[in-house]
Amino acid sequence: MKTEALFAPLIRGAIMEKARRPWIVHFVPGGEAGELSLALRSGEEQGAAGEIAAAFGASGFFKEGKIPLRVRLEYDGTGYSYLTAPCRGGIEKIRMGEVKDPWELQSLEAERGAFPGKPGDYGLSRSRVVKDRIALVTGGAQGFGEEIARGLVSAGAFVFIADLNRTGAERLAAALNEEYGKPAAFPIEVNVGDEASVENMAETAALECGGLDLCVSNAGVLRAQAILEQDISGFRFVTDINYVAFAIITKHCGRLMRAQHTASPSWTGDIIQINSKSGLEGSSKNGAYAGSKFGSIGLVQSFAKELVEYNIKVNAVCPGNFFDGPLWADPEKGLFVQYLKAGKAPGAKTVEDVKAFYESKVPMGRGCTGPDVIRAILYLVEQIYETGQALPVTGGQTMLN
Ligand SMILES: NC(=O)c1ccc[n+]([C@@H]2O[C@H](COP(=O)([O-])OP(=O)(O)OC[C@H]3O[C@@H](n4cnc5c(N)ncnc54)[C@H](O)[C@@H]3O)[C@@H](O)[C@H]2O)c1
Repeated sequence: MKTEALFAPLIRGAIMEKARRPWIVHFVPGGEAGELSLALRSGEEQGAAGEIAAAFGASGFFKEGKIPLRVRLEYDGTGYSYLTAPCRGGIEKIRMGEVKDPWELQSLEAERGAFPGKPGDYGLSRSRVVKDRIALVTGGAQGFGEEIARGLVSAGAFVFIADLNRTGAERLAAALNEEYGKPAAFPIEVNVGDEASVENMAETAALECGGLDLCVSNAGVLRAQAILEQDISGFRFVTDINYVAFAIITKHCGRLMRAQHTASPSWTGDIIQINSKSGLEGSSKNGAYAGSKFGSIGLVQSFAKELVEYNIKVNAVCPGNFFDGPLWADPEKGLFVQYLKAGKAPGAKTVEDVKAFYESKVPMGRGCTGPDVIRAILYLVEQIYETGQALPVTGGQTMLN
């Protein structure tokens, strides 16, 4: 990772440790003078974090709640400049020269004490838990990912929409920025199956915002086939994107979160995998998918045990079928059309009949929706005494023992 991306989460963590709330740290290529400048002796995570914390402590900043809005680090003969603000909109205001008195941005600061990582914080309403936090959603351009990105933005988070479909990610980010009248989302093109691409995604999050508080690993694929006919290259593809890619994402987003933790030991980060009810119960003629989802729950449990040291929780949400999403409802390639042709719903003559057949399998009588998944995500972020769990959101269709 580039040096400027390594330093960004250390600055962000140092600020959050003092501010007790999320903060944005934005790298500025070319560099500007900082209100706070320091020459680092160490370019390594632990050493640099200690030097940054000591310099901030000695600087007189943070007294009376003041936080430097321009920070410049020198290391090994190179200067690195960052703008810092309580929200992404603040960064734009500083950049556009709209901020005359840098402290006026302090009025944008949300309530102090909104620090969900502290056991003493009770009474946070659910949506507040992600307010001003930085989130990233893979596969965020459509389907559940789009719903999650929209839900997180409406709850006040800044969201990276990371997707193979660059145009779709750009379109959604632009629509959200327009709808909310502020920088609310940022598109990143990524192939989650490609480690270099995922590393670049994490680097972009570091340079744009200084790190991440919530990573939603949502991108997933399905190639349903009977095992006796299984095309093994399709099986490997599903395993690569649903299972291996989750490990790659956890590696690189987890490193960013670890750097923040080094600088802010009380901060809590979340990695949430969008799994499936097929990760809890086998699925006939869909073994590649169910296997990749079952396996991912093993990864969730293992990574949860491993990353707890850095205050990173790792959990999964296991939704039921999203009948209104493109996977099921697409009028040409959707599963309803396919299942109608294949006669999978007994007696069904129309797509509506097929939908009614599948809805009747759900005790609550309907499919899973974006808001159902968002509520589960907010619950997992708010719940600071649980990790390694797979939370079903299936209308009662799948129940844990
Ligand atoms: N749709 C359902 O009924 C359902 C039910 C339970 C769980 N899920 C899970 O929810 C997640 C999203 O499913 P969906 O139905 O919304 O999917 P979708 O096919 O509608 O959207 C998936 C998104 O991921 C992106 N994507 C695909 N491969 C990618 C890659 N290699 N790198 C980056 N982005 C990539 C696509 O471009 C697309 O925008 C998946 O993990 C899926 O297993 C879906």
